[in-house]
Amino acid sequence: MCLELRVFYPYRKPHGREFASRSREFALMSASPVLPAALSAALSARLDGRGRQELKTRAQRLSEAYRARQPTAGTIRDEADALAYALTRLPATYAATIAVLGRLRDEQPDFMPARLLDAGSGTGAAAWAASAVWPELAQITMLDRSQAFLTLARALAADSGVAALETTDFVDADLTRPPSALAEADLVVAAYALTELAETTLPATVAALWKKTTPAGGLVLIEPGTPRDHARLMAVRERLIALGARIVAPCPHQAACPMTGDDWCHFSVRLPRSRDHMFLKEGVVPFEDEKFSYLVARRAGAPAAGRIIAPTRLAKPGVTARLCGPAGINETFTPRRDKPAFDMMRRKDWGDAVAPSSAPSGENQ
Ligand SMILES: C[S@@+](CC[C@H](N)C(=O)[O-])C[C@H]1O[C@@H](n2cnc3c(N)ncnc32)[C@H](O)[C@@H]1O
Repeated sequence: MCLELRVFYPYRKPHGREFASRSREFALMSASPVLPAALSAALSARLDGRGRQELKTRAQRLSEAYRARQPTAGTIRDEADALAYALTRLPATYAATIAVLGRLRDEQPDFMPARLLDAGSGTGAAAWAASAVWPELAQITMLDRSQAFLTLARALAADSGVAALETTDFVDADLTRPPSALAEADLVVAAYALTELAETTLPATVAALWKKTTPAGGLVLIEPGTPRDHARLMAVRERLIALGARIVAPCPHQAACPMTGDDWCHFSVRLPRSRDHMFLKEGVVPFEDEKFSYLVARRAGAPAAGRIIAPTRLAKPGVTARLCGPAGINETFTPRRDKPAFDMMRRKDWGDAVAPSSAPSGENQ
């Protein structure tokens, strides 16, 4: 039986007292979290002749392994496993990646990458997301050490209708030691890949990826939004700063991260679930919320003055927001009577940058 990739979209964010500030819809955001139609179609084409139950069994095995933090090297054994991954995890990793890259484009307009290295590419989520955000992207390299992932990534890219994806270089290599012959790229992305590496390998890996980034380029690291991955990213952040990098997002400063203990910096993106995703994952609601943490490092470029690090809360008297800024973390309140500031803040959401002039005053935590 043929599976069909049909998405339930758009999802309208909830209105109401507590989360009314989320009224801005994805359609107004700079980059849609929905898989490109060509990618959905390319996946659908690979479902022909595959049994739903068999894919479901594989998807369940992958989910259990993911929850147990087992690297995909042990679970993705063939193209059917890679397909099960693409149906169940790719939509979420794509949505997280496009959320990060879309914000990067909006916040750093001088950043216009022509060459991309997608390190630990899997099925190519970052490459597809980058080519949606920067259609002018001219050259893509996907690097992975999984043949199963590379084979599926190649087949999907071939059906993309996007020249840069269709001419991708596929490199079977270890991202902890990228080949010296590999050219530098303006945009180097490792999405949900460092999480699979041993902690001891992170400093050298991140130095090697940074070295592969052109002088005007950027290194983007995206990880699951868990306390463990945030802590690892903060160690990586220190390493990058020591290497001369400037962290331009999400942090509005280069000082030590003020989040400690049970507090960790993460963001969330809501994405629609396809009918088949719901079947394979036994989902009950037609959307999922993907939590992620990330870092963007550049040699040039200034970070935002502040960043909203939790869902904003809109109530009758005004908007409350949790902001990270150079002076630390503030809980801010913007009263409704301060109309210009209120109108600005009610449109902001978790993850958004706040400009210096618009940053509301608040008390340090
Ligand atoms: C969870 S998947 C993420 C895939 C993709 N980036 C995404 O966002 O969907 C992790 C990927 O990293 C790759 N990977 C893990 N360790 C690696 C290593 N040492 N060298 C190359 N690739 C590696 C795996 O093969 C897998 O494709």
